[in-house]
Amino acid sequence: MSAQSMEELVALCKRRGFVYQASEVYGGLQGVYDYGPLGVELKNNLKAAWWRSMVYERDDVEGLDSAILTNAKVLRYSGHEETFADPLVDCRKCKARWRADHLEGETCPGCGSRDLTDPRPFNLMFKTNVGPVEDGASIAYLRPETAQSIFTNFKNVLDSTSAKLPFGIAQIGKAFRNEITPRNFIFRVREFEQMELEFFVEPGTDEAWHDEWVHERLAWWQDQGINGNNLELLRVPEEELAHYSKATVDVMYRFPHGVEELEGIANRTDFDLGAHTKNQRDLDITAAVPANDESNTRLAVQRQDDKRWTVPFVIEPSAGVDRGVLAVLNEAYTVETLPNGSKRTVLSLQPHLAPIKAAVLPLKRNHDGIVARARALKADLMKLGLGRVLFENTGNIGKGYRRHDEVGTPLCITVDFQTLDDETVTVRDRDTMQQERVNTSGLVDVLRERIA
Ligand code: GAP
Repeated sequence: MSAQSMEELVALCKRRGFVYQASEVYGGLQGVYDYGPLGVELKNNLKAAWWRSMVYERDDVEGLDSAILTNAKVLRYSGHEETFADPLVDCRKCKARWRADHLEGETCPGCGSRDLTDPRPFNLMFKTNVGPVEDGASIAYLRPETAQSIFTNFKNVLDSTSAKLPFGIAQIGKAFRNEITPRNFIFRVREFEQMELEFFVEPGTDEAWHDEWVHERLAWWQDQGINGNNLELLRVPEEELAHYSKATVDVMYRFPHGVEELEGIANRTDFDLGAHTKNQRDLDITAAVPANDESNTRLAVQRQDDKRWTVPFVIEPSAGVDRGVLAVLNEAYTVETLPNGSKRTVLSLQPHLAPIKAAVLPLKRNHDGIVARARALKADLMKLGLGRVLFENTGNIGKGYRRHDEVGTPLCITVDFQTLDDETVTVRDRDTMQQERVNTSGLVDVLRERIA
């Protein structure tokens, strides 16, 4: 099951501390959100799952964590200064601004007027000044994608590892875009996170690798609990391709507001490495890139056999963390009718994504023996390294179960009087609501089996 509406998800996110409007006490900041106590855990778990599958489970990918502030020249030669723009129209009546390609007909969605300006390009990059002097020479950008610094660090990574083609560089981090019409909660925002892999391959093998990565990424989203029936692949029409792309396939997800892009997998050819490479004229670059006499580096590999330099092609699976969080929350959100007619809201998250893996609940909040045993149990279970185990001393077990169902905690462990006699606890399962009595010595196995 999934949520019936975005409003349901937004309400849950606020109530339970997943996502808040940023700067809320001053009326908010449009298109910017903060992640609360449970949101940060969910987001970290999703990023960790991506990193594990991209970097740890493969031996042909290395990680990177590069700066957000970016030298303007990087984004000049990458083509972003020139082309990273959306078409913008102004409503002459109510003065609102809209993305021309998001309008239904030629009508202002705000006031219904048809008196709109012609579309003009609006560059989406956030500009700032580095240092105390605000002049043209001090301009820097907040990166609009994490990818560019992977390209500019290509040679550094190559020189400091034993990487050989095909190989990839993975990065998770913030990106910023001054979206004209941010909307749909955390779907389209101005500050967001990306999980990007740039996978460098021999020219000529790029199309096969592109297919392979589309397949891999589709499977990965399903491993995060997304039903395959809610995912689709969309081959981006040629006229809509980004300036660097030869072909892009989008992984589309059925969000509460409609089917939209969750991740894009692009064949960026040799465009970016070529664009940042000095003396491109000596190289066989297939993509038409701006001549770069300012870079001091050759972002290329030398063939062993004929010593010729080749600029690799790159396949780029690029996923949005915030869109991923929205998708897994939407998939997991379920309202069940129980046999007694009452309703239960449960977040059936995959255990590896659950913000809290297990909650340890003392039956009596003022009973020193029970409370001490519960605290010690929490400390023991944390040593497993499976994630957050919460000690929660409210004394209301029924309410605790309901709250933990709603935030997706897979297991609740209740410590009671009997525990003090025979070292057994009650383990309650989120999905089945079944309770079983387990010896504390067997809890490690229960957690490993159900959470890991
Ligand atoms: N490096 C390639 C790149 O940035 P993109 O399709 O513009 O390609 C990749 O972005 C992913 O980043 C998207 O599939 C989406 O998940 C996420 N994304 C892009 N813009 C976003 C925004 N304004 N808010 C939230 N996520 C966004």
